[in-house]
Amino acid sequence: VEDITPIKDTLDVPFGVAIDSRETVGNPAKLVLKHFDQITPENHFKPEAWYDEDRNFRPNSEAIALMDFARDNDVRVYGHTLLWYAQTPDWFFQDDAGNPLPADATGKAVLTQRLKDHINKVAAWLATYGEFGGGNPIVAFDVVNEVVADTPENADGLRRSEYFRILGEDHIDLAFQFANQAFNVDHAASGANRPVKLFINDYNSEQSGKQDRYYALVQRMLSRGVKVDGVGHQMHLSMTSPISSLDGALDRFADLPVVQAVTELDVTLATPVTQAQIIDQGYFYRDAFKIFREHDLFSVTVWGLTDTRSWRAEQSPLVFDGQLQAKPAYYGIADPE
Ligand code: XIL
Repeated sequence: VEDITPIKDTLDVPFGVAIDSRETVGNPAKLVLKHFDQITPENHFKPEAWYDEDRNFRPNSEAIALMDFARDNDVRVYGHTLLWYAQTPDWFFQDDAGNPLPADATGKAVLTQRLKDHINKVAAWLATYGEFGGGNPIVAFDVVNEVVADTPENADGLRRSEYFRILGEDHIDLAFQFANQAFNVDHAASGANRPVKLFINDYNSEQSGKQDRYYALVQRMLSRGVKVDGVGHQMHLSMTSPISSLDGALDRFADLPVVQAVTELDVTLATPVTQAQIIDQGYFYRDAFKIFREHDLFSVTVWGLTDTRSWRAEQSPLVFDGQLQAKPAYYGIADPE
């Protein structure tokens, strides 16, 4: 691990990274602990990760490794995610015969109970790592992920997922209601001093149409009294993403009574990747973090530790390369002058 300034020492905002258990040992672990304040489980807190083949809930070994790592090293954990249309067991949405749950009172009751049980079991296991707000590493959770539609055809602006088909817009409020009871039971109000900040999270919020639908949904949730503490901007970007749009997104939501976080930042390059692009990417990261520094954010998280471990590895979107060496992106963030 190179002898360079830790990125976290150059930022006022907590700096996070998405990892799995491979980054909790050896040199990757050293790199995580040197540069970051916070981790997000890249895959192992997702709904499907918690169940065995017989549909029994059990903490998976990766989740255990991540929580042990966070507890032992005093690192914050941003949980991801409780409700998502993807990486969720098919049986959540099926009856005992394996048929799709109907969108009637019976189907609604079954899915509502499953969602409630799921959230309660995740929270109960996490609570074995200490009291929320009193030593537990969990500081925030993406309660719902990617519920906003990519296209404008429906007036509600919501994704037509199985959750939506069976429960309608209610699925979002129910998830927050259950998460609030499970994580923040003694802190009924929303706001800054709640132990576990409950987030809604989505991508392309820097793009106008998606942003409008996202903003309108959060407004509706707040007007219904849903205890949503935070709005997450994934920010899966490319070199053609206008930097001004990042500022636009963070400004847009700043007038709502919520905190904001950048939850899944990466910046893809066109393939085949050249050294010139890697340098340009350094300037992009510099400009993006200039904007992040101007906003009051809960945390900024990059979606992976190294390029080779990225979900978009071909496009070299991250701050460290496969040899754990700092890329120009590192200098863009840590040494922007
Ligand atoms: C991705 C992971 O990085 C991959 O390893 C996995 O195969 C699929 O999911 N938006 C999200 C993340 O909210 O959970 C996704 O993570 C990336 C897009």
